Amino acid sequence: MAATGIRAIRLLKQCPAIEKVFINDLNPIAIETVQKNLQINGITQQQIQISSLDAKLLFSTYYDQNHTYYDIIDIDPFGSPSEYIPSAMQAISVHEVGGLMCVTATDTPVLFGIKKEACIRKYLTTPIRTEFIKEMGTRILIYFIAKIANLFELYVHPVMSISAQHFVRVFLHIRKGILGVNSNIQKFGNYLYCRSCHYRSVEKVEQKSTILQCTCPLCGNIMIASGLVWMGNLHDPEYVQDLDIQLQNTGKNMYPSYNQLLKFVELVKNEDNFPPYYYSIPKIADYLGITYPSLLKILERLEEKGFHAARTHFDPQAVKTEASITVVKEVLKEFQT
Ligand SMILES: C[S@@+](CC[C@H](N)C(=O)[O-])C[C@H]1O[C@@H](n2cnc3c(N)ncnc32)[C@H](O)[C@@H]1O
Ligand SMILES: [Zn+2]
Repeated sequence: MAATGIRAIRLLKQCPAIEKVFINDLNPIAIETVQKNLQINGITQQQIQISSLDAKLLFSTYYDQNHTYYDIIDIDPFGSPSEYIPSAMQAISVHEVGGLMCVTATDTPVLFGIKKEACIRKYLTTPIRTEFIKEMGTRILIYFIAKIANLFELYVHPVMSISAQHFVRVFLHIRKGILGVNSNIQKFGNYLYCRSCHYRSVEKVEQKSTILQCTCPLCGNIMIASGLVWMGNLHDPEYVQDLDIQLQNTGKNMYPSYNQLLKFVELVKNEDNFPPYYYSIPKIADYLGITYPSLLKILERLEEKGFHAARTHFDPQAVKTEASITVVKEVLKEFQT
């Protein structure tokens, strides 16, 4: 899924540790473009292997029971990546720290609960419409990849997970071992959500609750339940810390989007310290029929009340906090004059 070859070229030019890159795209016109771009960038033939195959075929060509093949696999098709995950899982090297699987999904209406049946079909779980859909969609993608990994006695360890613009992109270490598989399974859980008042809760698999029907403790309406999703961490703190240091050391000249990247790293640092959802302030204010103050004022007020609160990369107008929806609503109402 190389398209112009830009990612392969960046890896070869900017990461000295990379020995070889397999550049593949099903479309022969893309491969012609890749060839031109490699020439322009002075990439030597020893460092690359080029093909024009269906990615599934490429992965199964290098299928290896001992898992010694690709250290990194980057899956970036148009739409859903789900059909590529099983063959990729058999081609990735899981020795030492594990292989790195980078997966992009652009079928956000499917992951975000707008196309429910397609989500059940492609990601093996049921989405729900919430006001934290971007985080839910990201957790559905990780759940699906973990589930496929588990089939092969492999497990996932997320190093970074992003939802921005029109895509979800996750970076997962894939590692081997039954203990890790069992620990993955413990991190699956369901959301319960009241579409009437925005109350939400999380049920972990080990709690074995029956979620056939459940009423909202706040307003008494029937709550909706998602299928299983990934409730574990989205990012590896050490990796994020490393990225932060490297970014600051590399400096502004290297990356035109340096300021944006720094801001992004700052946001993701805190995300795993909170429950696996965020509160969309405009949506909650809309439910209450009131206007809302700046996010900064809301964060300060939540902290004054003794809660932790932070912004999230998922939504610039949302907060993450362990405070309940009742507290968030109280805070919003306090700002009404
Ligand atoms: C979204 S683009 C990739 C963009 C690229 N990663 C970049 O950063 O510029 C998707 C590419 O995947 C290729 N593609 C789609 N289906 C494929 C398949 N089954 N096997 C291999 N390549 C495929 C398309 O031809 C297209 O060039
Ligand atoms: Zn309710």
